[in-house]
Amino acid sequence: MDSPPAHHLARRVEEACLNGWPALREVVFDGWLIRLADGHTRRTNSVNLLSPGAQPLDRKVRYCEGIYSAQGLPTIFCIPSTADPALGRLLDERGYDPPEDESCVLFMDLAQTRPQPVTGVLLEAGLPGESWLAGLARLHGQNDHAQRTHRKILENLAIPAVFAAVSLDDGSPGALAYGAVHDGIVCVNSVVTHPDFRRQGLARKAVAAVLSWAQELRGATGACLSVVAENASARSLYASMGFTREMYRYHYRRRSEPT
Ligand SMILES: CC(C)(COP(=O)(O)OP(=O)(O)OC[C@H]1O[C@@H](n2cnc3c(N)ncnc32)[C@H](O)[C@@H]1OP(=O)(O)O)[C@@H](O)C(=O)NCCC(=O)NCCS
Repeated sequence: MDSPPAHHLARRVEEACLNGWPALREVVFDGWLIRLADGHTRRTNSVNLLSPGAQPLDRKVRYCEGIYSAQGLPTIFCIPSTADPALGRLLDERGYDPPEDESCVLFMDLAQTRPQPVTGVLLEAGLPGESWLAGLARLHGQNDHAQRTHRKILENLAIPAVFAAVSLDDGSPGALAYGAVHDGIVCVNSVVTHPDFRRQGLARKAVAAVLSWAQELRGATGACLSVVAENASARSLYASMGFTREMYRYHYRRRSEPT
């Protein structure tokens, strides 16, 4: 059987990424998804271009700026490599900062692989426990506001999810990851290892446990994630695990000045 066209898969992957790390509030405007989450992470506080729409670009950009400005937040656009270049030119004219953090969205086909047995990983399905959340806050150096918002975002997940933790000898978290499954694709997020315990296979274990859970218990046939293009260690980890297909890239454009 022919595989579905790449743009169908790219759309499913995009949806898995959006649903796997949900915003707290959203506004839809002429094909654009304006996401809000009290300023915590760019992915949940940026405009996502779902479809071209029909209204003039200038009007749409001003509308988005009005939404973010009312929240006291910078306007941030998440711009995929496939976007109309006219948007980038308009953002230049409107004084947006240069593109930041080019990122790659990677895919791994799980349909032909069997779930790998993984031991030594604590898995919690549904919502993360206190220990997972506290561990993430510690490993990411989150302040109280970021911790609270992070928790709210995860509580907002409306698709099946699993939270993985690899503990150190003293019981504290050595590596974490989670995955959420949408339309047969598990989106992997929040992969992090304690700085003193890197290159010991902990992240590989945490991610592998998420993938196995998604395959075995949720019938996932694919996995995706996004990674900053310059993050050589993470890219090397993901490539070694089989995330070899780049679906698309994106970058952010931000205007920090209030409109
Ligand atoms: C990326 C990160 C999660 C890797 O965690 P880790 O526990 O050290 O990774 P592992 O030990 O499981 O590495 C498995 C493989 O990934 C690759 N890898 C991991 N770190 C690497 C590095 N610094 N340089 C090159 N390759 C690396 C290697 O292939 C490695 O296998 P090897 O050690 O047998 O050569 C960790 O560096 C980290 O927490 N970074 C900060 C947070 C982050 O960037 N997260 C990813 C967000 S997308």
